[in-house]
Amino acid sequence: MAISFRPLSYALGAEVQGVDLAGPLSNSEFDQIHRTFLERGILLFRDQKISREQHIAFSRRFGELDTHDALPRDRDPDYPELLLVTNIPKANGAPSDSKYTGQLWHSDMSFTLVPSLGSLLRGIKIPPVGGDTMFTNMYMAYDTLSDGMKKMIEGLHAIHTGSRKIVDLSAERAAEQKKLNPPIAQPVVRVHPETGRKALYIGEKVSCFVDMTEAESRPLIDYLVRHATRPQFVYRHQWRPDDIVLWDNRCTMHIALGDYAEGEIRHLERTTIKGTPSGYYQQ
Ligand code: SIN
Repeated sequence: MAISFRPLSYALGAEVQGVDLAGPLSNSEFDQIHRTFLERGILLFRDQKISREQHIAFSRRFGELDTHDALPRDRDPDYPELLLVTNIPKANGAPSDSKYTGQLWHSDMSFTLVPSLGSLLRGIKIPPVGGDTMFTNMYMAYDTLSDGMKKMIEGLHAIHTGSRKIVDLSAERAAEQKKLNPPIAQPVVRVHPETGRKALYIGEKVSCFVDMTEAESRPLIDYLVRHATRPQFVYRHQWRPDDIVLWDNRCTMHIALGDYAEGEIRHLERTTIKGTPSGYYQQ
């Protein structure tokens, strides 16, 4: 069966049809997938009954994989290329370390010196209702800013932190996180290394702009995040088991909504493709 692509929303995303990732994929099939990935920012593969090894092998076709040294508590002990995004409690009954993973608008690994090229998230156990993820197109976010705003943010750097939402971080965990991942300054406008297009690079884990106070920075951070996540730039994904969603972290941002009942299991596994070095340490 030939590969075909179906748009997922006006702004971004395409569903890839006619591909079985458990079987071989020719270079020409991979080239079509890669081209559409660059054009649409997100690809969805439904009904992929694949093993962990096959998930890792397919991901490797896009580039070198991160072994998640920046997130040691969340990676699988036997497969460091797999980041567990799970609310399944630990063996001792304590909540999972990744229960709240992704519940702020962000681009993966922006708080490191090698932000991610892309991520492949595999749905394994999905709540009967909700557990959705939203994605937004950061090319559109940049393109639709006024010329004045574009001029103002060109050359600006923002401090990205590895902070997570709400109740999960004790003071001790927050200190551990800060030591492991000290704040990193990243350009607010980045040029995509493969398409040459400019994209906005901001998110809810940004604390302030370099050389500005948090109070001075906050209104602009809030404005840019609100602008970037306008509904017309967004695709909302409703997960099914055996979905694989691949996204381009260089021109999209995403958020896990956490919109499901406490007690329902949500378990997904992610590979993270390394991008090109970007940013610098900023204490
Ligand atoms: C992530 O940010 O990688 C996780 C997204 C999700 O759980 O939906």
